[in-house]
Amino acid sequence: MSFLKGATVGFDTENNKAVYVDQTLLPDKYVEKSADEIEDMCGAVKKLKVRGAPAIGVFAAISLAVLMNKSAADNKDSFLKEMELYANELVSCRPTAVNLKWAADRMLELARLSPVDKVRKDLCTLALSILEEDVKVCRRIGENGAELFKDFTSFLTHCNAGSLAAVRYGTALAPFYIMKEQKKEIRVFADETRPLLQGARLTAYELVKAGIDTTVICDNMASYVMKNKMVQAVVTGCDRVALNGDAANKIGTSALAVLAKYYGIPFYICMPFSTFDKSVKSGGDIVIEHRSAAEIGEMWYKKPMIAKGAKTLNPAFDVTDASLITAFITEKGVFLPQEIKNL
Ligand code: MRU
Repeated sequence: MSFLKGATVGFDTENNKAVYVDQTLLPDKYVEKSADEIEDMCGAVKKLKVRGAPAIGVFAAISLAVLMNKSAADNKDSFLKEMELYANELVSCRPTAVNLKWAADRMLELARLSPVDKVRKDLCTLALSILEEDVKVCRRIGENGAELFKDFTSFLTHCNAGSLAAVRYGTALAPFYIMKEQKKEIRVFADETRPLLQGARLTAYELVKAGIDTTVICDNMASYVMKNKMVQAVVTGCDRVALNGDAANKIGTSALAVLAKYYGIPFYICMPFSTFDKSVKSGGDIVIEHRSAAEIGEMWYKKPMIAKGAKTLNPAFDVTDASLITAFITEKGVFLPQEIKNL
């Protein structure tokens, strides 16, 4: 296996494999897996073994490098055709997170420019630099967030936007890791995040591991903690941000933003610029991924728990209106929603 220290996705260049920590097994088991076939790569993304917007982007880049390394194509046209097919398959695995397309486009752009005898090597180099960039960008987000939060000690977060959702620091949890490095005592409330429990399983796992005071609450307890002044800020990640500052993130995020506004608590979104989609004007144009009913009614229960005959609706993301977002914390600094379109 070939992971950077503390990373959750990686590139095993010796054996030409994409490697990842299987997040569906956490917090019980920490298992590193590898893939070198498109079906396994797509399966890992669809089943959320690899998940979180930045992580799936990095994973897509590495997957394309691995797949094209194995390709027998001997001319540019057939090489590009094959790569475009793989890229489309990977991008269509999850429609909301733009990082998949962002990474695939970067890899395709390079493949188009690179001479055929060098292209495989160039793709490997780019995939590795996309991975390393993520670590640097997320660390900057963390530093900018830690500076912004210098007078804050208690936070609420949703879903998992930590190291598991990126390569190493994550986005929304990055400021907490930097504050921990600075020996600041902080307390983080993690929404459990129904239906897939990324907050309870993953955020709690990584925060506790980092020695941060962590309290898991059910999603419907957020109003309680806000009303009782137990949190000073809400901090989340995002999966796609539109030109006008509307932000898609894990289902339930927009409800938190509405509550935060009501209680006068600032609501921050941590955003690497790889998640900013200038081609989308507003949140209404963002495609929302819908997932299976089983995730709601069966997955965590010994027997199906929803009354027979009832329908279910399982949108995996929602859009928070720009008007509810206090600011975006990015690698370039902290910006108001109306400012990001100029960056
Ligand atoms: O469905 P998931 O678990 O991939 O959703 C992830 C989220 O919504 C995260 O909050 C988002 O990707 C930001 S990750 C740094």
